[in-house]
Amino acid sequence: MPFRHRYTGLISKYLDRLPVQDDVRIIGLGEGNTPLIQLSKLPRVVARDVDLFVKFEGLNPTGSFKDRGMTMAVTKAVDEGAKAIICASTGNTSASAAAYAARAGIACFVLIPDGKIALGKLAQAIMHGAQVLQIRGNFDAGMRLVKELAEQAPLTIVNSINPYRLQGQKTAAFEIVEELERAPDYHCLPVGNAGNITAHWIGYCESSGSGQDGRLTEACTLCDGQCRFASAVVDKRPRMVGYQAAGSAPFMRGAPVDDPDTVATAIRIGHPQSWQQALAVSRESGGWFDELSDEEILQAQRLLADHEGVFCEPASATSVAGALRDIRSGRIPEGSTVVCTLTGHGLKDPDVAIAQAGDAVQTVDAELEAVRGAIVDRL
Ligand code: F0G
Repeated sequence: MPFRHRYTGLISKYLDRLPVQDDVRIIGLGEGNTPLIQLSKLPRVVARDVDLFVKFEGLNPTGSFKDRGMTMAVTKAVDEGAKAIICASTGNTSASAAAYAARAGIACFVLIPDGKIALGKLAQAIMHGAQVLQIRGNFDAGMRLVKELAEQAPLTIVNSINPYRLQGQKTAAFEIVEELERAPDYHCLPVGNAGNITAHWIGYCESSGSGQDGRLTEACTLCDGQCRFASAVVDKRPRMVGYQAAGSAPFMRGAPVDDPDTVATAIRIGHPQSWQQALAVSRESGGWFDELSDEEILQAQRLLADHEGVFCEPASATSVAGALRDIRSGRIPEGSTVVCTLTGHGLKDPDVAIAQAGDAVQTVDAELEAVRGAIVDRL
């Protein structure tokens, strides 16, 4: 095989741990293999000794974790002869679906909430040639419509109710286990539709159960089992902690929320589709759910960008906002290894970022004195 060591995406890497045939035509963009970045300053902000990592899923090809699931969903859809896919979306799913449909050469229809999706995501769906329908309703209404429509027309749903989505997304847990050579003690995620927290749990469960003696013998297919990952031992699973935006927190209310609202538009969801699964994950893993105000979410987004050089979208920062609060309070004890998923890139939502900028952008005359004055003032 030419270019044997080239990374070509998560399906080829984890072929034997995913429900695909060896000779399937992979619709991929090199997704997965995202960095697990250790945060150095934020633990000091809360004055606690923890190993705190972010899994920066915003570095996937379309800028969010959705690509992990989408490569699987679209590969399977094409394999089964689909000519069109459809989704409801708060933005990232539509961007990802549109890109993978373009790659596959099939049609893509997306339903998005009118005026409530971040600009970058809309630009992506349009550029990749999706048919974009803004509905006068929210994500939950879109989801209901998509399900009804797919009963009547040859359309494959690529929301996370499509089981192949979760199969693709579980690989993020595989990657974390490979890098840490163990599972973290706590894994923190933002929760909207609740597919991703469910997918990660599947991944951790498979990691702890696969191979003999808990050994991850199949973790790396790129090197014929020669690399250090082949001997990673996983004998435990993390507690899974799901954080929601306070205005869209059905898991905290214990019931669906009919009119969800938050600045973190990606997780503006009141009727999560993976409700039962996420409750089971929380129970089985010994984890919990909690909620954050919009202000706490935006503050965490700024902290990450300002102190750590990591720019994620608001919804993603929910995981770090929650983790920091729970680390500070001791609910997540000192000495823990904590992974927070940063689900999407900050460039997705320039409006919210710029609205927080305050006086960060200064206008001066194009003259040396003016520019020098502005810079020397700030040294
Ligand atoms: N973070 C981001 C950036 C998201 O886009 C989403 C979901 C989530 C977190 C929540 O993940 O739904 O698996 O619990 N976005 C979907 C979309 C709903 O349409 O893009 P979840």
